[in-house]
Amino acid sequence: MPHFHKRPKIALVGAGQIGGIMALLCAQKQLGDIVLLDIPRMEGQAKGKALDISEGRAIDGYDAEIIGTSNYDDVAGADVVIVTAGVPRKPGMSRDDLIGINLSIVKDVGSNLKRVCPDAFVIVITNPLDAMVYAMQQVTGFPTNKVCGMAGVLDSARLRYFLADALDVSVANVQALTLGGHGDTMVPVLSSAAVGGVPITELIDSDTLDAIMKRTRKAGGEIVGLLGNGSAFFSPAAAAVQMAASYLHDDKAVLPAAAHLNGEYGYNGFYLGVPTVIGAGGIEKVLEVPLNAGEKDALDTSAAAVQKLVGSLDI
Ligand code: APR
Repeated sequence: MPHFHKRPKIALVGAGQIGGIMALLCAQKQLGDIVLLDIPRMEGQAKGKALDISEGRAIDGYDAEIIGTSNYDDVAGADVVIVTAGVPRKPGMSRDDLIGINLSIVKDVGSNLKRVCPDAFVIVITNPLDAMVYAMQQVTGFPTNKVCGMAGVLDSARLRYFLADALDVSVANVQALTLGGHGDTMVPVLSSAAVGGVPITELIDSDTLDAIMKRTRKAGGEIVGLLGNGSAFFSPAAAAVQMAASYLHDDKAVLPAAAHLNGEYGYNGFYLGVPTVIGAGGIEKVLEVPLNAGEKDALDTSAAAVQKLVGSLDI
C-alpha cells in the first residue's frame, strides 16, 4: 500500500499585520495548508489576504491551500496554531498596558482551540507575551510542552543584528541569546555571545555593548515609534514561522522561546524566555545556559516581573 501524507494544517488566529505576513511565509516555505482566522467583523480582511496570497501562487509556483474565515470549524484538526489575536501597542505604551484587553481575547481564542484542535502545537505572539502564553495554557488545558510563546527568537535576532552591524560581519556568524520576559526586563546574555567562536567581549568594547543591550531591550518600542500605527510585523512573523517549521519538520532546532518552567533556572510554574529544543514533541527540552552573577540577577528581576503580571491575571 502506498503511504500518502496529507499536508500539515497551520492556523493563524489573527489576520492582521503579523498574521498576513506569516501566511505568506508559510505558503512560500510550503509548510502546509493555511487558515487565516479573524473576528467576524474582520472576516473580509482574512479572506482578502488569503485570496491575494493564493493568486500569487502561480508566480512563485507553490502548492498550498490558503483560506480566510471567522469560523473555528475551519481550524479543526490544525497541527500548528499561531496566535496574534489581540491589540498591538501604540507609541508610549508598554506591552504590559495591553493586559486587560488581550487577556479577554486570549480566553476567547483558547476556549475555541480547546474545542477544535486539542492536539495542536500553539505558539502565542499576543502581548504581554509571557502572561498571555500562560493564560493560553490555562484556558486550553493543553500539555505545557504544546503551548509556548514567540519572543526569544525575535529578541535574539535583534541582538544578533545589532552585534553583526557593529562588527560588519555576517549575522549568521553571530551567536547571541536573550533570556527572560519579553519586555524591558529582558536579559541579553553577552557572557556566552560569540562571533565565529570568538567571545563578543573580546571584539566589542563595553560601552558599545551596553548601548546594544539597551537598544535590544527597547527594539520593539523603537519600531512602534517609527511606524506610529502598530508594532513590528515582518521579523515577528519570520520568528514564529521558524518555530512552527521546526515543530512540523521535527528539526529539533535550538530556539529561545517562552516555555513553561519546572525548576529550570530555579523557577517553577510559569512561562519565561529560555533556550529550548523544538521538535515533533513541541518544546522537547529547556536548555540551561551558564550565566554570570549580573545576568542571573537580571534574570531574577525579569522573572519576578513576569510572575507579578501572571499573578494579576483573572483567568
Ligand atoms: N479572535 C481572532 N482575532 C482577533 C480577536 C479575536 N478574539 N481579537 C482581535 N483579533 C484580530 C484583530 O481583528 C486583528 O486583525 O487580531 C488581529 C491583530 O492584528 P494587528 O492589529 O494588525 O496586530 P499585529 O501587529 O498583527 O500584532 C498582534 O502581536 O505584537 C503583538 O501585542 C501585539 O497582541 C498584538 C499581536
